[in-house]
Formats: sequence, C-alpha cells, structure tokens
Amino acid sequence: MIAEDLLDLAPVIPVVVLDDAEAAVPLARALVEGGLPVIEVTLRTPSAVEAITRIATEVPDAVVGAGTVVRPEDAETSAAAGARFLVSPGCTSRLQAAMVATGLPFLPGVATASEAIALLEGGITAMKFFPAEAAGGAPYLKALGGPLPGIRFCPTGGVSRGNAADYLALRNVACVGGTWLTPADAVRDGDWDRIRELASEAASLR
Ligand code: 3PG
Repeated sequence: MIAEDLLDLAPVIPVVVLDDAEAAVPLARALVEGGLPVIEVTLRTPSAVEAITRIATEVPDAVVGAGTVVRPEDAETSAAAGARFLVSPGCTSRLQAAMVATGLPFLPGVATASEAIALLEGGITAMKFFPAEAAGGAPYLKALGGPLPGIRFCPTGGVSRGNAADYLALRNVACVGGTWLTPADAVRDGDWDRIRELASEAASLR
C-alpha cells in the first residue's frame, strides 16, 4: 500500500493515546465496527508499541499505524511491532530516510509551503498537516492548495467533530485525524459503545 491509498481508506483516522495496552484490542474493535479501520497509535506512552502489536495481531480488519514517530529509530521499532503505516508531526532528512527504509507508507508532517516543497522534491505527495488549527486551519490549508495542488493532506491537531467537515470539503484534504474519537474517560472506563458511536458519526462525514 502506498501513502496515497492509505489516505483513501477512511475519512477520519482516529489518533489514539493509550496508557494501557489491555485496552488496545477492544478499542480497535469498536473503531472498526464504527466504520473507521485506520488507527494511529501514538508513540507517546510506554504501552504504545505493545498496543500496536496487539491490534495488528488480534484485529485483522484494522489498519494500525504508529504516530508521533519523531526519532529515526521509532520507524523501525514501529515496523517491527506490526505497524502498517507511520505518521510524524514533522520531518527531517534522517527521519524521512528511516521511514523510507521500513518500506511502509508514511505521512510526514508539515505546516509550511517550504516544508511541503522539501518533501515534494523527494517524491512525497501525501502529508499530514500539523498542527492544523493552530497553524491556520482550513483557510490556510486551502491557500496552500493554490500553488501546491499535487499534495493531499491529512490535517490533525485541533480537528474535531465541529470542524472536520470544513477540512474534508477542501480539494487537497483526503482525510482528517484526531483524538476526539477516543476520549480519555471513555477509554479508561471501557465505554466501547460510546467510541463505536463516535466512530460511526465520523465515518459518515464523507
Ligand atoms: C496528533 O498527534 O495528530 C495530534 O496530537 C492530535 O491532535 P488532537 O488531540 O487535537 O486531535
């Protein structure tokens, strides 16, 4: 799978921060059942790598990836754990090389035209726009589409059920990502019905 195809699998990519790997499988099942099969588990907690492995092994209908890939070694660790894609909040040439080396599709993060052009020079046309709301939101991303029409973005960072549709209406937005699908209290309480409903609502956005 190439990154462009990854962007087309679902209108929303849940960004998941998991403190307990035990929650990974029921959480992933709820998201898949709600209609969101692409799941980004962020490498922000000690249990993230274990969570990726569990989802990859036990939830075959999920397409699980690693987010918050910031160190070159994170790329290989994630691939070895079973991640099927990688997402980074920004990019450097070393990080880019490490992600390429895994053979996995990846979404490198950008927030400016220069960062996007640097990646374009490497043949990359699928990117994360981060931090979406703080960097200028949907109007800013729409403006980038004028001179850079060949890039398709997944905006994340401040995207929510209230503004996701504004981004999805843009020609250069393929899908959006965010943590609003997996509220911390719902994950802690094992309220998978609520998460399934949030996923279902988001899955119908496009
Ligand atoms: C990310 O890693 O993409 C963002 O931290 C998600 O941001 P959100 O919590 O504002 O959705």
